[in-house]
Amino acid sequence: MRLIIDTDTAGDDCFSLLLAMKTPGVTLEAVTICNGNVDFDQQAENALATIEAAGKSGDVPVYLGARKPLIGDWEPAQMHGADGMSGAGFPPARQRPEEQHAVDALIERIMAAPGEIEMIAQAPLTNLALAVTKEPRIARALKHLWIMGGTDNSVGNVTPCAEFNFFIDPEAAEIVFRAGFRITLSTWTLTLKSAVFDGDQLARLDALGTALSDFHAKVSKTPRAVAEERYGRVICTYPDTLTCACAINPALITEARDAVVRIETGGTIARGFSAVHPAKLGARWPEYRNNARVIGAADNDAFFSMVEAALG
Ligand code: BDR
Ligand code: CA
Repeated sequence: MRLIIDTDTAGDDCFSLLLAMKTPGVTLEAVTICNGNVDFDQQAENALATIEAAGKSGDVPVYLGARKPLIGDWEPAQMHGADGMSGAGFPPARQRPEEQHAVDALIERIMAAPGEIEMIAQAPLTNLALAVTKEPRIARALKHLWIMGGTDNSVGNVTPCAEFNFFIDPEAAEIVFRAGFRITLSTWTLTLKSAVFDGDQLARLDALGTALSDFHAKVSKTPRAVAEERYGRVICTYPDTLTCACAINPALITEARDAVVRIETGGTIARGFSAVHPAKLGARWPEYRNNARVIGAADNDAFFSMVEAALG
């Protein structure tokens, strides 16, 4: 599998990158950085540190993309610590970012291999919206686009209506969902159902005793504490990692349905809301008919096994 990951690297983003780099049969060909979780340049450092931790320094190019959302204001996510790595203090990685802009790198790489590359978008969708606006043919040239964002008509993690990635750049999300990509959507609703590791599972990861399980324990320290505070028990959430796992192994997906997905770009209360409309009612918005497959549930045990194997 040929893969590109667009990421706002912090916390769970790192474990998605690790899964892609450590799962046999997957070639992570490039990483592109988008505005999102924490300070933009820190996110690039976090991606480079993750590549270094995986023993892949120099093998996976990192491209810097959009530092700001298209229209709205950027604000940081609140759950990964100021550096996005729970203050782990990793030394600067040897590898440095590429000169080429992420948007141009995406266009060049996707157009050079039509139908071959899949992409995971696990950050606000600014880079992809800019890329598909500059070169609309990437929408059909990309083999598949796996997006982590939004909710399945449910409660968000930033506001009652919105999940972080779509909340930060709803205009970009709306552009991407209208562009004609073959999309599978992994939502925050799915995260809470299928991408949570409990205390026992976290203890099993900690007990692996490898350099990567140590990396995982350090980087997930703050999100674990935030989740424990929020949900009242020892858990950690893995939205981006589950999205990556489903892309690598679609057999993890136990429920999915075709839908018309639109993102609310107006208003204040519902800004960033993702409306997931059953495909059979798509006549209401004919220009959007069946623009995504929305994952309803995934196999948590099988997902855990993939993460365990990657960190082991
Ligand atoms: C998403 O927002 C970010 O904080 C995470 O990295 C994930 O991509 C979850 O809402
Ligand atoms: Ca992310």
